[in-house]
Amino acid sequence: MFTLAHMSDPHLGPLPAVNARQLASKRILGYLNWQGNRAKAFTSHYLESIVADVRAMAPDHIALCGDLVNLALPAEIINAAVWLRSLGSPQDVSLVPGNHDAYVPGAIRSARQHWLPYMLGDDAQSNTLEELDGTPSFPYLRVRGDVAIIGVSSAAATGPFMATGRIGKSQLERLAALLETCEKQGLCRVVMLHHPPVKGATPHHKRLVASRRFAQVIAKYGAELILHGHTHLDTQMQLPGPHGAVPVLCVPSASNGPGGHKPAAAYKLYHISKEENHWHCLMETRGIQDKKSGVTSLAKAPLILPNSS
Ligand SMILES: [Fe+2]
Ligand SMILES: [Fe+2]
Repeated sequence: MFTLAHMSDPHLGPLPAVNARQLASKRILGYLNWQGNRAKAFTSHYLESIVADVRAMAPDHIALCGDLVNLALPAEIINAAVWLRSLGSPQDVSLVPGNHDAYVPGAIRSARQHWLPYMLGDDAQSNTLEELDGTPSFPYLRVRGDVAIIGVSSAAATGPFMATGRIGKSQLERLAALLETCEKQGLCRVVMLHHPPVKGATPHHKRLVASRRFAQVIAKYGAELILHGHTHLDTQMQLPGPHGAVPVLCVPSASNGPGGHKPAAAYKLYHISKEENHWHCLMETRGIQDKKSGVTSLAKAPLILPNSS
């Protein structure tokens, strides 16, 4: 049995001091949004409860689906690196970046620099971005037990009022190759990305651009599970695969307080096992129910993986 925890969108707060030069960009919109809504919705109190519960559940690995920060300010990125180290070791935590981590041009490079150990594949020869420059780092592959964790980046800087994601053609080609190889090795293939890869899952200005191309790769090569974030919702969708429907799952923001228009902070645990050559998965959602309760079990049910009997 392998237990994978799925968290997303902590949007770590509070915002550090911002100067006028840093706000002379799309950041001014995010700053106003933060002051108006997010500072109230995202508090470290709920995130601390979620992280403490994840620790208590002692999963074998943590999949973190991006949006660690808000405006991708340099101080936010450094603070997030400290938080990542408090969550777990790079060996035990896999991260893909979100649109807020790539908020303005250049931000994603800084985020990669500081968070790199959490986004490196098993075959990476390097521990510095300079050594990696010029070599593709997404998708990365990490094998833990019988599980292949494949991290895809959909993070890209966008214009004002946009929060779209993109996955380049060469990244999709490498994803196809990894999925094919990992299937031959009999691994349970878990693909992580930030944006939902299902058409219509978000408003147009927040979508994964050309999600159809990602869906075509899954339709041809398959996967056992797809995890994402971005919508801050507790949703289960699916994409067609060659051996049946592939579950596509999202979790609420790991920081969100109860009582808002989005669900309160939660995360999921996937207990994955192989029996008679078929994958089985028991999914548990754990999170905050109301202001008084701590983190509790919200739901527990089998999740049908494509080749399950
Ligand atoms: Fe987010
Ligand atoms: Fe996002």
